[in-house]
Amino acid sequence: MSHPKSFAEGLSIGIIMDGNGRWAKKRGLPRTAGHKKGAQVFQDITDYCQELGVACVTVYAFSTENWKRPFDEVSTIMKLFGEYLIKAFDYKSRDVRIVFLGDRTALQPRHQELMEEIERDTAHKTGMILNIAINYGGRQEITAAARELAALVQKGELKPEEITEQMLSDHMYTRGQKDPDFILRPSGEKRLSNFMLWQAAYSELVEMDVLWPDFTKEHLDMAIEEFNRRNRRFGGL
Ligand code: IPE
Ligand code: IPE
Ligand code: MG
Repeated sequence: MSHPKSFAEGLSIGIIMDGNGRWAKKRGLPRTAGHKKGAQVFQDITDYCQELGVACVTVYAFSTENWKRPFDEVSTIMKLFGEYLIKAFDYKSRDVRIVFLGDRTALQPRHQELMEEIERDTAHKTGMILNIAINYGGRQEITAAARELAALVQKGELKPEEITEQMLSDHMYTRGQKDPDFILRPSGEKRLSNFMLWQAAYSELVEMDVLWPDFTKEHLDMAIEEFNRRNRRFGGL
């Protein structure tokens, strides 16, 4: 399908990749099978975002709360993430800047090394930004930003009354980036589940009744069309 240039160009999109477990259960498969299929869909959809001229796509891969899940499931997700990190080196030849959002100190040291390498090798790219939120929580992110600013106050480099919204934005993992225009949540759930709490202040929410492993390019087209029909006011008239 071909779209007018204005269709998706320059958009910042957040995606809560949800419904992997239900997808597997429906097929009588273990939940981990849903995560495997979901990981493929992640690659296809982020590639398609780049094709459409999207400026930034942020995918929610693992939340700070997802550690509560059974050990087997968490290990499978981390294993898939590790496989992705190896494959992500393809991005060296593509115009995509990869950034990881979240507290990476809890991840395997080998994964942390690869993440740093990928970020470093793609930092100069001027094409699409691909943010991967892993061990990410909006509250954790805001708390970390507050601590960083508090440390500056303690050192006498900043006064409390000098703290601005912009300074907080500059201490989020997404520093320097545009806020998401819309946040897409497949699987029919209508909540943010701790995703981009600071950045989502004026994001449109698009919820879709499809499980992430079944999500196709056509679904993304539909979500963008829905967003393009919305009337954003940002508190004005
Ligand atoms: C999203 O799918 C993937 C992660 C949270 C890591 P789920 O695993 O939450 O799937 P459902 O919501 O149980 O169907
Ligand atoms: C949000 O989905 C996290 C990711 C998609 C990575 P969850 O499945 O964890 O959210 P809840 O538990 O339904 O709110
Ligand atoms: Mg879920």
